[in-house]
Amino acid sequence: MKSVVVLGGYGNFGRRIVAALAHEADARVFVCGRDLRQATEAAEESGGSAEPRRLDAHAADFTAELRKLGTTIVIHTAGPFQGQSYTVPRACIAAGAHYIDLADGRDYVCGIKTLDEEAKRSETLVVSGASSLPALSSAVVDALRTQFSSIESIDHGITSGARPPGRATMDGVLAYAGKPFKQWRDNEWHPVHGWQDLMRRRYPDPVSGRWIASCDVPDLDLFPERYRPVRTVQFRAGVGPATSMFGLWLASWLVRAGVISSLKSWVPALHRTATTFARFGSKCSAMHVTVRGVDLNGEPAVRNWFLLADQDHGPFIPCFPAIALARKLLRDEVSERGAMPCMGLLTVDDIISVGDGLDLRVVPG
Ligand SMILES: NC(=O)c1ccc[n+]([C@@H]2O[C@H](COP(=O)([O-])OP(=O)(O)OC[C@H]3O[C@@H](n4cnc5c(N)ncnc54)[C@H](OP(=O)(O)O)[C@@H]3O)[C@@H](O)[C@H]2O)c1
Repeated sequence: MKSVVVLGGYGNFGRRIVAALAHEADARVFVCGRDLRQATEAAEESGGSAEPRRLDAHAADFTAELRKLGTTIVIHTAGPFQGQSYTVPRACIAAGAHYIDLADGRDYVCGIKTLDEEAKRSETLVVSGASSLPALSSAVVDALRTQFSSIESIDHGITSGARPPGRATMDGVLAYAGKPFKQWRDNEWHPVHGWQDLMRRRYPDPVSGRWIASCDVPDLDLFPERYRPVRTVQFRAGVGPATSMFGLWLASWLVRAGVISSLKSWVPALHRTATTFARFGSKCSAMHVTVRGVDLNGEPAVRNWFLLADQDHGPFIPCFPAIALARKLLRDEVSERGAMPCMGLLTVDDIISVGDGLDLRVVPG
């Protein structure tokens, strides 16, 4: 019997991962976090055979606990990953368990390669960013690039509905509001600032026009290397309500101007407000990937890929890559070992098929 430990197993994304894996035959799934009551509730809700455990991912005895549970795979959703050290993947390697996380922290995902030798020695697979970015985004670009002889630019983004993500996601993405980071543009690194460069993006109906702004994500480092000699890589994200986007944009200017040091202390209040008003807002979300370059006939070409979600099914999507990869590992279908960002391990179909039955639609264009 194989065992899957889901850290943050009763969080926003963790509970969806638990619910998806709790029905896997021949696998025990442990719902883990620092609160046993919430873990027990999530295990009961999962409708499968999930078991609750109190487990602190950063406790000194974490490796020993993983060994006690006979852990085969750890899925780490206990962010924020911005600023987190590699104690969790190192503990997994020491316990001989495969490691998968949903990280969106740029340094965290890109730096995971530093654990490659350790992971290979223990014959484990250590994968960071098994989520919308960079797992799904890179799988889409990998598929689109077959239509190009050379890629000049990649522009991608995500717009959510009114329903907010979990606290860890909000903590992570608001931490860089108004802060500078580098973006690859016209073959050079340029400084941009978090939640600025506001632009209106058109999505197919029912999502339609949405405001999106610059975000600091792993793809900004990973894509210029993976899709060399691409000249420009941009990523923007946004939330459904336009008022929230303008509020966030204005607040990012307060940070940039030095009026406030960070939006981190605002997160609890913003999260409560967004949760209260979510039912009045849109239930639609979308992801886009636009690749420009030269096609196989030598002509300038543009290819778009959209993923549209309705009925508040968008928040399932960031969980799909981790679920797909865990299922493959449980079935011994992955031979790679070592530490890497989640690119090239899953195809678009591997990822999207996890959502069969949900209100999701892929629109090429
Ligand atoms: N790469 C991408 O495209 C992408 C997209 C979206 C989200 N994400 C990532 O997904 C992560 C999870 O987001 P979320 O919305 O699910 O957050 P969430 O609802 O706040 O869930 C985080 C969970 O982690 C648990 N946790 C925190 N510290 C822990 C510890 N030391 N040991 C064990 N469990 C701990 C929390 O429970 P307790 O505090 O009770 O322990 C909570 O259940 C975010 O950090 C974000 O980085 C990635």
